Amino acid sequence: MKRAKVAIIGGTGLENFLLDAEKLRMETCYGVVSTLFVGRVNIREAIFLCRHGPNHSVPPHKINYRANVFALHEMGVERIIAVNAVGAINRDFKPGDIVVPHDFVDFTKLRAVTFYDDAPVTHIDVSQPYCPEIRGLLIDNARKAGLRVWDKAVLVCTEGPRFETPAEIEVYRRLGCDVVGMTGIPEAVLARELEICYAPFCFVSNMAAGVQEGLTPFEVAKVSEKIMPKLRQALIWTVEALPIPRMGKCPCANALRDARIK
Ligand code: HPA
Repeated sequence: MKRAKVAIIGGTGLENFLLDAEKLRMETCYGVVSTLFVGRVNIREAIFLCRHGPNHSVPPHKINYRANVFALHEMGVERIIAVNAVGAINRDFKPGDIVVPHDFVDFTKLRAVTFYDDAPVTHIDVSQPYCPEIRGLLIDNARKAGLRVWDKAVLVCTEGPRFETPAEIEVYRRLGCDVVGMTGIPEAVLARELEICYAPFCFVSNMAAGVQEGLTPFEVAKVSEKIMPKLRQALIWTVEALPIPRMGKCPCANALRDARIK
């Protein structure tokens, strides 16, 4: 099996992110994995997983998050950078801005949320849900690439595939949420369950429902296209800068140590 220590999970617009990419078709005990490429970021072996499958054909609530994260773990991945489009609830945030959330709220309803359905009962600690080491590098490199960056934000994940109502967005705002997306959870939690470092790299594609008038998926593609060159550069610098092996300065690598009821 091909191996790499770093993976990027992304949506449309980053399919050709890797050099010398080879497309793989993989299946796990959790089912079929989304489109996956193995290649390089300069000299570093890396994986790119296209979350929505070929031609953006899989909606957020139908993505097989468990198969995707499990496959990356099987391939030796220790770090995941997740690229997500989000709507801005916080009115200071604007389309084209980068957001590196520090926390999340989960409003999904129908997804398989854990690898640990059986004994030993496993309660993963998510007091610091995203890897601080990757977050720091993403923030620094996005700024260096000339992007406007928000380094503290709460992401709310909704079930989709519909966009939210204005009333829902107002509820999330009152709860302290800054951005809304449909793909961040359970991906982040599943990565922590397998002791993989994980951090989201979000770009604001639109103001959330009720903040702007009406929403279409075309805005996501339009904003993504505009900021993609800088976003790519920030990702490349971040992958290159990740220390290998892991420095152990984050809660991710030992997440299972005290998580089990024996
Ligand atoms: N809501 C949910 N998901 C999204 C949005 C939004 O406004 N924009 C991009 N992904």
